[in-house]
Amino acid sequence: MNVESKNRCLTGISGLDALLNGGIPRGNSVLISGSCGTGKTTISLEFLIRGAETNENGLYISATEIGSNVMNNLVPFDFFKQEYFDSGKIEVLDVPKIYEELKLTKMEFDKDDIDKFIDYIGKKIEKGEIKRLVIDSLTSICYRLRTEEKIREFIIKIEKKVNDNGITALLVSELLPTAKGYSQYGVEEAVADGILLLGNLKRRGDLLRTLQIIKMRGTAHSRAEYVMDITSIGILISPLLKGGTVMSL
Ligand SMILES: Nc1ncnc2c1ncn2[C@@H]1O[C@H](COP(=O)(O)OP(=O)(O)OP(=O)(O)O)[C@@H](O)[C@H]1O
Ligand SMILES: [Mg+2]
Repeated sequence: MNVESKNRCLTGISGLDALLNGGIPRGNSVLISGSCGTGKTTISLEFLIRGAETNENGLYISATEIGSNVMNNLVPFDFFKQEYFDSGKIEVLDVPKIYEELKLTKMEFDKDDIDKFIDYIGKKIEKGEIKRLVIDSLTSICYRLRTEEKIREFIIKIEKKVNDNGITALLVSELLPTAKGYSQYGVEEAVADGILLLGNLKRRGDLLRTLQIIKMRGTAHSRAEYVMDITSIGILISPLLKGGTVMSL
């Protein structure tokens, strides 16, 4: 393994790794931005499972759905293996349970609340020897932070934990279908190391899923828009041709 590939986290989604010239630079926190149903949760979970396949432990922090429900949605995929979850290679945490355990009951968090939450995640990362982190979604956690200043502080602290521990994080950013930017509060996209934008595109009566790398610190990458198919064998990426035909990579 050369130095460059050691410093990269292969997502395991081969089309995406090719667009990134060999994966996400380790230590990066990457926004997965898109409106509902664009595949944010699926891409994030495939990233964790592909990690488990190569002995990289993962932590999935679920804020919008109960973690176990999310897992059930994965059962039809060929790459799903219950043993990764049973053995603790992938740990699933529900945000409401964390809030309860930490007695974070306020609707608007102050700086101490943010620190308690970050410390809790930090300890999980260290104890579980975590290499891949997913927060699904960052948007719903930001809801309790309210101000731009606190959102910025929260994300910067998360990024520091990620970077200090040499792990790679996907932070899900929920967008309205009419959104112009890549995040709900605007702050998220400015402080993230990378942004993967997922979207929908109408073509000849069909609704295609699309993926585009908007930014990724630490690597050259494609900036073109690609077709992203969710299939039983996992996520497949193919070039989007102007005429509307799709060619496999
Ligand atoms: N086994 C499967 N095979 C193919 N496509 C699937 C499969 N399971 C789910 N999908 C597709 O994935 C979509 C859901 O994707 P996903 O939950 O990852 O989106 P999301 O962006 O996280 O949505 P939300 O914003 O609602 O959380 C479904 O609408 C369906 O079209
Ligand atoms: Mg989702």
